[in-house]
Amino acid sequence: MKLLITAGPTREAIDPVRYLTNRSSGKMGYAIAAAAAHAGHQVLLISGPTSLDVPEGIDFLPVESAEEMYQAVANYLPRMEAAVFAAAVADYTPAVSAKQKIKKSGETLSLDLVKTKDILGSARDEMAFTGFLVGFAAETENVESNARIKLEKKGCDLVVANDVSRSDIGFDSHENEALLVFPDRTELFGKAPKHDLAIHLVSMLGG
Ligand code: CTP
Repeated sequence: MKLLITAGPTREAIDPVRYLTNRSSGKMGYAIAAAAAHAGHQVLLISGPTSLDVPEGIDFLPVESAEEMYQAVANYLPRMEAAVFAAAVADYTPAVSAKQKIKKSGETLSLDLVKTKDILGSARDEMAFTGFLVGFAAETENVESNARIKLEKKGCDLVVANDVSRSDIGFDSHENEALLVFPDRTELFGKAPKHDLAIHLVSMLGG
C-alpha cells in the first residue's frame, strides 16, 4: 500500500541563526518507514531535521518548519492509502522570524508565538483523507483517556500513546512501550525496541 509517514521534530526559526525545536530524535518514524518498506509498502517519509540515515527503498522529503511539513503532507496525502503521523510538530512558532540576527539588548527578551496548523487534525477535513490514519500521543498523565480524546477529535483509526514522563522509553530512546488506542479497544504493547513496535504497527495498517 502507499504509505505517508511524518517523523522527527520541526525547527521554527527565530532569526537566521536561532530556532525552537524539541527532543524528538525521529527514531520511531524512521523505524516505521524501514519496517513498512521491508514489508513491501511504497513509503514516503516526510521528516524534520534528524541525525538518522534515511532507510533504503523509500521516498524521502526533508522539511524544517511545521508550515513546510503541513504543505508537504497536504500535497501528497490525497494519493496515499495510509498515513502515520509520528512527527513531533511544534505547536507554536515565532510570530515573526527576524531577517537579521537579533542583537543582545535588554535584560529580558519576549518572543511572541502563534499556533501552528495541526497537520494530523487537518487530514480528514481540510485534506479529505479517507485512508487508515495513525496518530501519536505524547502524554505525561491520563495516557489512555487523553489518547482516546485525540483519536476521536482528529478522526484517527489508531493512536499510539506514550508516557513521556518516563525516561526509559519514548523520546530519544531505542525502546518504547505504547498503548495502542483503537476506536473499539485498547492494547498494551509492552516495552520493546522501537523496531519491534514498528513491525507491529505496520502489520496493523488497514485495520
Ligand atoms: N500533530 C500534527 N501537527 C501539529 C501537532 C501535532 O500533525 N501541529 C500530530 C503529531 O504528529 C501526533 C499527534 O498530532 O501524531 C499528537 O500530537 P500531540 O502534540 O501529542 O497532541 P496535540 O494535539 O498537539 O495536543 P497537546 O499537545 O495539547 O497534548
